[in-house]
Amino acid sequence: GKGLAVFTSGGDSQGMNAAVRSVVRMGIYLGCKVYFIREGYQGMVDGGDNIEEANWSSVSSIIHKGGTIIGSARCMDFIKREGRLKAAFNLVTRGITNLVVIGGDGSLTGANLFRQEWSSLLDELLANNKITKDQREKYKYLHIAGMVGSIDNDFCGTDMTIGTDSALHRIIEAIDAIVSTAYSHQRTFIMEVMGRHCGYLAIVAALASEADFVFIPEAPPSVDWRDKLCDKLEQASYLALVAALACEADQVFIPEDPVPNNWVEKLCKRLQQERKSGQRLNIIIVAEGAIDREGKPITAELVKKVVVENLQQDTRITVLGHVQRGGSPSAFDRILGCRMGAEAVMALMEATPETESCVVTLDGNQAVRLPLMECVRRTKAVSQAMADKNWDLAVQLRGRS
Ligand code: F6P
Repeated sequence: GKGLAVFTSGGDSQGMNAAVRSVVRMGIYLGCKVYFIREGYQGMVDGGDNIEEANWSSVSSIIHKGGTIIGSARCMDFIKREGRLKAAFNLVTRGITNLVVIGGDGSLTGANLFRQEWSSLLDELLANNKITKDQREKYKYLHIAGMVGSIDNDFCGTDMTIGTDSALHRIIEAIDAIVSTAYSHQRTFIMEVMGRHCGYLAIVAALASEADFVFIPEAPPSVDWRDKLCDKLEQASYLALVAALACEADQVFIPEDPVPNNWVEKLCKRLQQERKSGQRLNIIIVAEGAIDREGKPITAELVKKVVVENLQQDTRITVLGHVQRGGSPSAFDRILGCRMGAEAVMALMEATPETESCVVTLDGNQAVRLPLMECVRRTKAVSQAMADKNWDLAVQLRGRS
């Protein structure tokens, strides 16, 4: 059977185990010899016990577990050619020429570069008498299939990354818990949520929790944001769609004015209105990457200062942190991991030497294969647009094309 290995890389996320399980079982079902690579790229470089053959039962009873049972690491060694040479040796000597990588855009890019370099790495191993001519010939092609495991939902080409749904559940549980204590003391709570430079978790959490205000990195959009929304919906940007829903519900307010610091006035007005209408509490959600139009961070501390100084409200901060990334995966993430894992293995089994590396993504309700590098390029373009303060473009690029 073909040699196939699966590994998880970068930050963990709920649902990665479901994906690992699915890859192992689908691989075995299709007659492959399947391996785990433990500790991400580091395990590939170090070899030894880190690369271990998996069997049907080695992935029993893991689907409900958070994190990744095969470990994940940020690996500096793989950045150097020397490290990649060791990794190639460890794969070839085990007959592994199919890799499934579960990680973020950096991990997927690394895998694709490895593939591009594969031939020259094998030449070097042969020249150093580390592998035989037969091995050089037999394992001359490396195939890669990726899946995006991340709570941030920040990868272009997929509607949902594996882990986002579970993180959202965790956030909502926490906000619901905070609301009861906030009500008792008539307090305002500022909740900082994760997402790196992506406001997805913050905005959907705000929508689902009736938050009074939300700060996201992609905000503030332009003044005519509401008009532009219609165009955005046609591009089916998920973020814009959710923002539209939030807007209709009139529960979430996004600071859309281009004048820097105008958000202070808007925020205070909104909070006051809510209290006047009989609300005993306020919830403000701040994405960890939230910024103002000048690109300056809008932190939970800053928002608290504004609320306390302007409204004298009794205010507390809750930083949810890694709680969001832990715990049991939701049913959605388990199923997403299962479906994507199976599709990734099928993609590898159907690959020809000419087939580009793919990433399995969710499009509507379908697991589809997209060219890996095109998705990575788009994801990087979003980061660039954010750095250029072109938020409209960032939101547009995040949507489907
Ligand atoms: O990418 C997932 C994520 O949890 C982000 O939301 C967050 O910014 C980052 O990872 C935290 O990284 P670390 O686990 O290294 O502290």
